Amino acid sequence: MFTAHLGATSVGAVLVSGAASGIGRATALRLARGGAAVGLLDRDVAGLTLTAEHAREAGASGVVQAPADVASRAEVDAAFATVVDALGPLDGLVCAAGILLPGGLQDTTTADWDRQLATNSTGALHCLQAGATRLRDGGAIVVVSSNAARVPRTGMLAYAASKAATSALARCAGLELAERGIRCNVVEPGSTDTAMQRALWPDPDAGATLAVGGDPAAYRVGIPLGRIADPDDVAAMACFLISPDARHVTLQQIYVDGGASL
Ligand SMILES: NC(=O)c1ccc[n+]([C@@H]2O[C@H](COP(=O)([O-])OP(=O)(O)OC[C@H]3O[C@@H](n4cnc5c(N)ncnc54)[C@H](O)[C@@H]3O)[C@@H](O)[C@H]2O)c1
Repeated sequence: MFTAHLGATSVGAVLVSGAASGIGRATALRLARGGAAVGLLDRDVAGLTLTAEHAREAGASGVVQAPADVASRAEVDAAFATVVDALGPLDGLVCAAGILLPGGLQDTTTADWDRQLATNSTGALHCLQAGATRLRDGGAIVVVSSNAARVPRTGMLAYAASKAATSALARCAGLELAERGIRCNVVEPGSTDTAMQRALWPDPDAGATLAVGGDPAAYRVGIPLGRIADPDDVAAMACFLISPDARHVTLQQIYVDGGASL
């Protein structure tokens, strides 16, 4: 288990979207282990409650659950208001909520396209808009996108497009927010062992091996580091970027994929 790495100065209040599972949960718990107060946003209420319990056990200085669908600007605004009422202005924001609906050029339905854009891209926009007015000057944002934003993949056309939009909107928002000393960076994970990833595996026992080994027929080179990421591998990068240790880093897109974007 990694220990929390939150820099020389402790991080105060951080809102994490997608906190009910996977990378968002791992990030919230890593922040909690460092003593941060965490606002937990997700549409999965049961998952949020579990994350909240673990965050309290891990030593969070405050825990607030804020259920919301990121596709709804009104729900996102209400959730951010709940968190800020309880914890005060935010020092950090991590946007990790997302969905993946597989599909290629001909089998991507308009409904699947719209849903992924609404959750992954518009959802990130809503969180950035709601967060910008509630972050302290000098705060930090991390948007979890995907290495598919920059590396073409078969069978995930709409997902990749939605993540390319997410990465671009995060960097444009970060450019605007720089004058307030707010940093905004993008983390682009590769295959990471979460519910989203496992849903893609036809065989649960062989899934990770296939991801690591690659698939020439799908133009995937595999993972040079020889292992699939643990959610905490991505959380570690997100927490570094939120921390004051990264105080001169902004507008970056950083792969956390074991070299798979080769
Ligand atoms: N797992 C991977 O291999 C991988 C790779 C690259 C990028 N990512 C990205 O990392 C992020 C986290 O994914 P994960 O792998 O932890 O998956 P996950 O399914 O474990 O977690 C995603 C979370 O987002 C929440 N969510 C989905 N739609 C939502 C909505 N409309 N409103 C609020 N919450 C919503 C889900 O309830 C869930 O808790 C996503 O943005 C995903 O695209 C994951």
